[in-house]
Amino acid sequence: MHLAVFASGGGSNFQAILDAVAAGSLQATVALCVSNKASAGALVRAEEHGVPCFVLDPRAFEDPASYEAVLLSALAEHGVTHIALAGYLRRIPSGLVAAFRWRILNIHPALLPAYGGPGMYGRHVHRAVLAARDAFSGATVHFVDEEYDTGPIVLQDTVPVLPGDDAEALAARVLRLEHRLYPAALQLLSEGRIRPLGRRVLIDSTPLPTP
Ligand code: GRF
Repeated sequence: MHLAVFASGGGSNFQAILDAVAAGSLQATVALCVSNKASAGALVRAEEHGVPCFVLDPRAFEDPASYEAVLLSALAEHGVTHIALAGYLRRIPSGLVAAFRWRILNIHPALLPAYGGPGMYGRHVHRAVLAARDAFSGATVHFVDEEYDTGPIVLQDTVPVLPGDDAEALAARVLRLEHRLYPAALQLLSEGRIRPLGRRVLIDSTPLPTP
């Protein structure tokens, strides 16, 4: 699996992926880091690990088709076979979703289908969980389809919401879970062991050949 990681922010999930690859628990080559922001912390981490970086801002393109074409050609140039979205705050063009169908995962800091969709990112998610007085939150890894946060769910796990939590405390607890969950889901993808069946995801006990 030759992975491109798309990240707009600090990149702690990207770091967890790099660490899992280094530890041998994730069999993948991190072939490219893609960001829409030149200031993204993820790019610093990529440079430290010798991972090629590709920065492009969709707003700099006159039309979505040329943005998509440039992105697709960068992925092809680096031999990318799979994509992990790790805090990437731009919509993935539909042509890219189609070209990498069932080969793109995203991680979301809540228990989807709750607290997903447009506008539900970062602290907005954790504030909504706290406002609802939920007893649990968690993280979800899902396949990416054409909508926000709607693709079939691969892995999900929970953390408690504790008395006195603010959005920062809850975000930190959820992030620690994310750092375990995402490499595990990506390893299943790498082994060809997950495939969607309607809204659900089958996890095979016998690995399938990787595409
Ligand atoms: C994570 O909470 C992830 O679930 C969400 O964006 C955040 C990215 O954090 N999609 P980081 O940049 O990986 O630290």
